[in-house]
Amino acid sequence: MNMSISFDDDIKDRCIKLVTCECAPNIALIKYWGKSDEDLILPLNSSISITLDCDILKSTTSLALVKRANNSEPQIRIWFDDKIDEFDSNTSDLTVKKVLSRKRFIRILKMVRENFHHEDYLIRIKSLNSFPTACGLASSASGYAALAHCIAHAFDFKGDISELARLGSGSACRSCFGGFVKWNASNQSSLSIAKQLKPSNYWPELNIVVLVLNDHRKENSSTDGMKLTVESSELIKHRVKLVEETRIKVIEDALNDKNFEKFGEIIMRDSNNFHAVCMDTYPPIFYLNESSKEIIQLVHIFNQTGVKVAYSFDAGPNVFLFTLDDYLSQFVSLLKQIYFSYVSSDDFIEQKFISKAKNMVLINTTPIEKYEKFKTDENNRIKYILHSKVGHDPRISLENYH
Ligand code: DP6
Repeated sequence: MNMSISFDDDIKDRCIKLVTCECAPNIALIKYWGKSDEDLILPLNSSISITLDCDILKSTTSLALVKRANNSEPQIRIWFDDKIDEFDSNTSDLTVKKVLSRKRFIRILKMVRENFHHEDYLIRIKSLNSFPTACGLASSASGYAALAHCIAHAFDFKGDISELARLGSGSACRSCFGGFVKWNASNQSSLSIAKQLKPSNYWPELNIVVLVLNDHRKENSSTDGMKLTVESSELIKHRVKLVEETRIKVIEDALNDKNFEKFGEIIMRDSNNFHAVCMDTYPPIFYLNESSKEIIQLVHIFNQTGVKVAYSFDAGPNVFLFTLDDYLSQFVSLLKQIYFSYVSSDDFIEQKFISKAKNMVLINTTPIEKYEKFKTDENNRIKYILHSKVGHDPRISLENYH
């Protein structure tokens, strides 16, 4: 299977290496928020995540090492979706952020540089997301993880790829693996790396459901948000202690025992705690909107007899839900009844439900009366629903031409 993105014809004959990587985004169950080192991107606390399925959401990045044709060609040219940037690795213009942070990119390159014996070669990178960046789903984690893999393979880097990805974006280090992943907090760069806790097939009954909300609000960047939190919040100190001393162990135990009730509760508590810390930031940061808060209430009503669905929110209003196979179709049916009552079940599965489980049967067993207050005329607050199982490791292809 040819995964690579095509480059301009004029570099075809000059290409000596072509690496392509597909990576999926990850969703933090215990969140990373705050750095102890801004340059090295070292986190204040450890975090744990689930990687999504590449077939539902992914970033694909291709990197070509190309022989230089003339001295006027820029050393680095990067296409990210429909944007383009070009510069030399010794550029002093690090403030401009065009398609990705040049500063972070060069830091990654410098780390592999000692293995880079091809100073005369040019670097050409193309990266595409299978999901619109504007829909507010974190693409920086999958994008930087794919980039780190491409750079590592192109330059025969023998070190830890998650350390490279972390230099691009903290959460990207966790997208270097499939399954359940832990990123360790340490003040030493080589120890602050990600490790897989459990592979993708460990808990096959687990589902991740993403509700993409109709919200075109521009997100406040996580980088700026967490910096402000560290500078101004009192609560963050308590959060770091809580995560390090208790939460990581609670979720690891819940995962080992496949105890969904315990697993779901700690995920919701950690998401709530993270958003409380955002609110304690001065001036406060609000990532949730009214629709997000409504889903939180809905989940708690659904869970009246025990935790069957858990929610989590990153630095944006979109909802990440976790549930087991036993409750999936019941919960999706409920969402269909409340938010998509204006489409038929067939049209819903066809147009609004992005999933490999297109044969899902909707079962309306939940008494809808309990949810009367969520019913609304403006049936457009959820744009679509993505359904994913736990995803596998990144896919990589490498071609050498000389
Ligand atoms: C809320 O990894 O995007 O999603 O390291 O500055 O690039 P930088 O930030 P980023 O922050 C992610 C924050 C989060 C929680 C998480 O993914 O753990």
